[in-house]
Order: sequence, then structure tokens, then C-alpha cells
Amino acid sequence: MDTAPRHDIYAFIHKGLRAFMSHTLVRLGRVDVNDRAELAEVSEEVRALLALCRDHVHSENTFVHPAIAARSAGRTAAFEREHAGHEREIDALEALVAELPGSAAALRRLYLALSVFVAENFEHMQREETELNAALWATHTDDEIRAVEARIVASHQPEEMQVVLRWMLPHLAPEERAQMLGGMRAAAPAPVFEGTLALIRPLLGGRDWRKLASALGL
Ligand SMILES: [Fe+2]
Repeated sequence: MDTAPRHDIYAFIHKGLRAFMSHTLVRLGRVDVNDRAELAEVSEEVRALLALCRDHVHSENTFVHPAIAARSAGRTAAFEREHAGHEREIDALEALVAELPGSAAALRRLYLALSVFVAENFEHMQREETELNAALWATHTDDEIRAVEARIVASHQPEEMQVVLRWMLPHLAPEERAQMLGGMRAAAPAPVFEGTLALIRPLLGGRDWRKLASALGL
């Protein structure tokens, strides 16, 4: 028998990260190395992805792991080692982006290195969503987990949240998207809610937009 679902601190942000990683990797694979404008645009996208990944590791280390470790000592050790590895890989990927302009060899190195980074992160995120969620759910109430999440959101600037929302909201299931935006409408100032709708509307297909508009009574 299914029990009521618990609050999943990882689910939405990880969907956003998977979408951003997949998009950027595919885009890097088809970029024209001799088209300077396109290469600059894709480079900027890779840098933005890497900045978000670095920030994500920092948020988990700062807010999520201490909460878990306080009630199940030792559960986060392997994940912290992997995070340290991800930070080193992000440094190396940023160095490869800097070598890009005009170099097909540098583009190939970056594409292959990013593919490995994405593969490792997909496995890592799956284990967080199973092993670390199990630890969180065994020791924390949903309200306590939501409080950890609220501290993460509060630690970010509005511009940083825009990037997160841009990648997260279009890549949630319709019900999840409506749930998140409904929460935002209740909690945030009206211009923030309206700005977010304007940000994601062009990124949603007509079908998803109509579902959202109907769920929110727009
Ligand atoms: Fe992580």
C-alpha cells in the first residue's frame, strides 16, 4: 500500500539540474566552433551551468548535510567526498571553457569531460534522492525538511533564483509546476509571481501553459 508522499527536498531542483545539464551537453555537441557568436553564447551557458552546479553543492553541504548528520551520523560522508570531487571537476571544466575560442580540439575535450561530469551527477543525484531522502524522512518531519529548504531559498539573491526557476519550472510535471507557482503566489510579492510567469511562459508549450493557467485560475 502506498503511504502519503513525503516532502522531497531534492526532486524539483534535481529535475531542473538534469534538464540544464542535458540541454547544455547536447548544445555543446552541435555547436559550430567557427561561429564566434554561437560559441560565445554556448560558452556562457556552460559557465552558467557550472556556476549553478557549484552553488548547488554548496547549498547541500551547508544546509542539507548538517541536518542529516545531526540525526544520522556518518550518512553523508560518501556524498561529501563526491561533492569535493565535483568541485574539482567544475574548476577543470571552467578552465576548458576558457580554452574554447576557435579550437576544435578544446571543444572536443570539453564535450567529453562535460559528458562524464553529467553522467556522474546523474548517478549521484539518484543516490541522494534514495539514500539521503531515506535518512531525512526517517529523522525529520516534513515541516522540518521544508524549513531546511526555506533556509536554502533565503540564502540566494533574486537573480540566482531566476536561473533556478528558469530551469526548474519548465521541466516539472504540470501538477508540480502548478503546486510550486501556487505556493509562490501565496508567499511572494505579486510582481515576483508575475515576473516568474512571464519568464517561463515562452518556455512552455501551449498545452503545458493551458494546464498551468487552468490550475492557477488565470
Ligand atoms: Fe549532491
